[in-house]
Parts: sequence; structure tokens; C-alpha cells
Amino acid sequence: MISQSTSMRSHLCGELRPEHIGTTVQICGWLSRRREHGEHLAFFDIRDHSGIVQCVVDRTVDVRSEYVVRITGVVRERPEGTLNTQIPTGAIEIGDCVVEVLNESEPPPFPIDSRADDVDENIRLRFRYLDIRRERMQKNIRLRAKINSAIRAAMELQEFVEVETPFLMPSTPEGAREFLVPSRKEPGSFYALPQSPQLWKQLLMVAGVDRYFQIARCLRDEDLRADRQYEFMQLDAEMSFVTQPDVLAAIGKAVTAAAEAATGVAVPPIEQITWHEAMNRFGVDKPDLRFGLELHELTDIFAATEFKAFSTAASIKGIRVDAATYPEQAASGRGRLDALTDRAKQVGAKGLVWLRVAEGKTFESPVAKFISATESAALCDRFGAVPGDLILIVADEWDTTCEVLGQLRNDIGRPPVHEGPYRYVWVIDFPLFVGIDAVTGRPKPGHHPFCHPHPDDLQYLDTEPLRVRAQAYDLVLNGWELGSGSIRIHEPELQRQVFNKLGISDEEADRRFGFFLQPFKYGAPPHGGFAFGIDRLTAILAGEDNIREVIAFPKTQSGSDPMTNAPTVVDAAQLNELGIRTLPPAVK
Ligand code: AMO
Ligand code: AMP
Repeated sequence: MISQSTSMRSHLCGELRPEHIGTTVQICGWLSRRREHGEHLAFFDIRDHSGIVQCVVDRTVDVRSEYVVRITGVVRERPEGTLNTQIPTGAIEIGDCVVEVLNESEPPPFPIDSRADDVDENIRLRFRYLDIRRERMQKNIRLRAKINSAIRAAMELQEFVEVETPFLMPSTPEGAREFLVPSRKEPGSFYALPQSPQLWKQLLMVAGVDRYFQIARCLRDEDLRADRQYEFMQLDAEMSFVTQPDVLAAIGKAVTAAAEAATGVAVPPIEQITWHEAMNRFGVDKPDLRFGLELHELTDIFAATEFKAFSTAASIKGIRVDAATYPEQAASGRGRLDALTDRAKQVGAKGLVWLRVAEGKTFESPVAKFISATESAALCDRFGAVPGDLILIVADEWDTTCEVLGQLRNDIGRPPVHEGPYRYVWVIDFPLFVGIDAVTGRPKPGHHPFCHPHPDDLQYLDTEPLRVRAQAYDLVLNGWELGSGSIRIHEPELQRQVFNKLGISDEEADRRFGFFLQPFKYGAPPHGGFAFGIDRLTAILAGEDNIREVIAFPKTQSGSDPMTNAPTVVDAAQLNELGIRTLPPAVK
């Protein structure tokens, strides 16, 4: 560690060790805790970002919690029996102390030691500058800086060029709701804040930059959740003259470098799974590979079934809750099984069949009588089921069976997102279109309409659009989507064809996306890119399950900032200048 000594201090609090015994030191920091000791002395625990050190001080010194002090004294061994093995400086203390008060503090609204973990989040955010003094936040913020730095180094090593792109841009249809900024010069007109630098980075490819990256702030007016904030950071990248494997390799290096810098543990090569396989095995496009409970296809077993609920279904799938790994869930009583059935229905199933495996490949279940001996035996064999296991089955359309069982699988087995081991996986070959719009009869885009169709599937674009795969891919970590990207369409004619499939005429495309399409007429190179969420990656690597814990100044779940009170009302003069008149809040 490079010395952080300054003209005011010789050492950091947390760096003092027995090797410093006998040295006169000067430390600066905050009074974390004070304990009176006998008639004359007091112990001061002094904290800075590096940790805590104990100082033995004359008890008449008037220093209270969170006062800022400078202490000059001599490092000495702690007396026998007073060693503290809980802290790195626990073998020493500073004696013969001279205390200078650099600043006073009001009593803090919550204790700044680790006990504050149960403090109400609103209070933490209202006094975020005190919250960040705490060890947990100091650790997270420094980890984040390390991750950013590793990402930047990995991108620069690969000759990516960092380019900053505008914040004030036209409104673009990218998916989420935008934040708008009124124009003073053109009242009634608005800029939009970028949902991502997507537009700019593609233009940079037309511009011949070849390899672009940016640690970019993005803004989206979405409902907030554990993994979503209005403002968030992406590693955003774009490359020219590439195919999909080139992009995955380049981004993989940045993610791996970040994870290794954060944890010190090598990341094995990132696995790949097709979207279709992810859906069939895990029921979701963000598969969490840390646990089993995989979905199994059972449609063939019930091809000739007498059971009405199964006989007409397009797809039948099931999961086995094995009693050895999930003893409690496998042994669920009726109440819990009813709750699982309700959950399945809530997600979209018509019902849920549960079968408790008994001896001789038979089942205990209200519907056991509808399942033949051959079907029972085939079911047990397919799952490798043994007595005591619980089998859950859904019969429906393919996407419903996936969705319902994928949800149940997560409900039953998914550990908190930050728990190791870290399982990264590329999900590739997303479909270009997802289903047919019931009203227009047209296919609906899976991602944005600029994703390049898979070259092998171009032949189906007209005849079987739902069969066309996109060259679009996600990176998933422990069941969270870390990032997304695609190879883009660079051929104007193909772009026109895809728009037409979506029911967007040439005129409409020109009107809505003209500023984006025009540049592509001037020699756009083949290109593709990716962006991953730095907040999400950092949260998981920091052992947190909410990205707010790794953002210095986040918004609450309801989108406000209890410290600054943003969003706030602005005065009439400011609104007039912008040509804006506000309506009174809607009466509820
Ligand atoms: P996408 O919209 O999938 O792709 O975003 C990429 C990644 O950004 C993170 N992310 C968020 N993180 C926190 N809060 C949010 N509200 C939020 N929204 C998104 C996620 C997500 O996976 N331009 C494309 C990328 C491309 O095609 O190159 C894009 O932005 O981790
Ligand atoms: P029913 O014939 O609707 O009384 O259902 C008999 C049993 O089959 C109940 O336990 C239902 O929850 C279950 N069930 C009904 N439809 C389905 C379905 N599509 N998939 C799985 N289970 C079903």
C-alpha cells in the first residue's frame, strides 16, 4: 500500500501493527467510541477509512462521538490480557496521547459502527454521508472503484478507445421511459437523457473508431427494484468487423478482470447456453446455474394419457424436488402444496400436479389414479426419482410450462443472488421475434429492431419469422441479467425488411429513426457490441443483494433522495423561462 501520510498525519489508523511499537505517530480520524477507564484514563477508538485504533487518553479530554481529532502519541504493546483479536490493530494501542480537536460533531443519528446494519434505510439515505463512514459502505465504494479501474484497464489493453457521448439527445424509442429535459431556447421541445449510448456508439462505428468503450451513466424512468435504479452505470462497448465470438471474448475479458480484481479468485471460462436450452432446462432466460431442480420434458411420456389435464396440452414439463437435497420442500404438507399451486396459477398455469414418489415407482397424489403404471415408471426413470421425492408437473403451451416451472424452481431452490459460487453464463441465440401480436398479426421484436438476424435463419424471415434467431446475447450471473448485446444490422436493405416485418413502413422508419438510419447509407461497417451493468456486478461481488448498497448516493425504492429531497418543486420564474406550466397533482 502506498503511504497516505500527509502534512497532518504520519499513518492511517488501521495500518498500525506491532512493528510500529516505539514509533511516535500522528493519526487523524473520527471518535468511534470512548470508554472511561479508571479515574484518570479513557480509551478512544479512532476511525478513518482504513480501520480503527485504540488510543489511551486523559479522561478529562472533552471529545465525543464523531468529533474529528488529530492524536499524536507513541505506539505500544497492549498489556497482557487486553489484546483484541477482532481488529487488525488489536495487538497495539497509542499511548502518551496529545489530542487536538479539529472539529466537533453533533451526536450522530445512528451509531457509525457495524451495529448500524439494522438502521432504517430512509435514515441511512438521509444521512448518507454518515452512512458512508461505516465500514460496509467504505468497503463497497472502494470495491466499486477497483472494479471500474479493472474494467478500464482490460478495455484499454484490448485497444478500445474511450469516447464520451452526449447526455442531451433526442427522444429515441429504446424500450424504457425516458427522462426529459425541457429546452429553454425552444419552449415546448425537449431533450431526452440517454437510456444508453446505443445510438452514439453505432455512429462511432460508422465514423471508423473501430473499438469504442465508455463507463457510461444511463438514465431510465423505470419502477425501481433491488437491481434497478433510475441512474446506473454500464460498461458500454462496440466493435467493428466482428462476429459474435469476438464480442463475447472482449467483454468476457473485462468482466473476468473486474471479478478477479474484486475477489482475487480466478474466473473459469464463461459457459454458453442457447436461449432455447436455457428455457427448456431452467424455464427462464436468466438461468441461475448454482442449483439443480432442472425442468424435464415429459410430453412424450403422456402422449396417450387418459388424464384430461394432460391429454390436450402442447407441452408437459416437470421438476423433481429431490428429498436428499431439499428435504423440507420435498416433504411439504398440504398447505405448502396448495401455496405452490396458487403460485403456479398466479404465474399463468391452469393448475399444478404434484406427485409424491412412493415405493415401486408409484405415487401418492390426488391424481395418481389418472396416471398409468407405464407412465409412472417412465416418469420416475426420467427424473431418477426415489421414494420421498416430490415431482411437480405443468401442462400447457411451451412458453407457459417454461415460465411457471422456471418460477417455481427459483422459488424453491434459488439462494440469495450474492452467495457463491459465482456462475457466469452467456445466453446466446435469443429469438428475433417473440410471438405474434394478437391485434396486428405481426411478429413482436424480441430486442430492439436493430439486432442482426442469424445468417443461417435469414431464409425463414418471410415464411417462419418465429424460427429466426437473432445474433443477440445476454450475460447472466447467479440469475441476474448482467448485460446484453447484439450484432447489429448494418445493411439498409435488411433493416428495411425487418422493419417491414414489424409493420413499420419505410416512411415511418424514416420519420422515427431517420437520424439513425441516414448515417448507415454512408458505409457502415459490420459491427456489434454489448453493455453490462456495473452496479449489478459490483453488488454481487460485494456480497450485497441490492444495488443501492454499492451506489454512493442512490434513490429510494420510490425514486426520491431523502438527503436532498429531490425531486423538488422549482419556482415559477424557472418554469416560465422554460415555457412550462404544471398541473396540480391528480386527486386520488
Ligand atoms: P440493456 O438495456 O439490456 O442493454 O442494459 C444493459 C445492462 O444495463 C443494466 N441495467 C440497469 N442497471 C441498473 N438499473 C437499471 N435501471 C438498469 N437497466 C439496465 C443491466 C443490463 O443488463 N444498449 C444496450 C446494450 C447493447 O445492445 O449494446 C443496452 O443498454 O445490467
Ligand atoms: P381439474 O381436472 O381441473 O380438477 O384438475 C385436476 C388436477 O390437475 C388439479 O390438481 C389441477 O391443479 C391439475 N391441473 C389442471 N390443469 C393442469 C395443467 N394444465 N397442468 C398441470 N396441472 C393441471
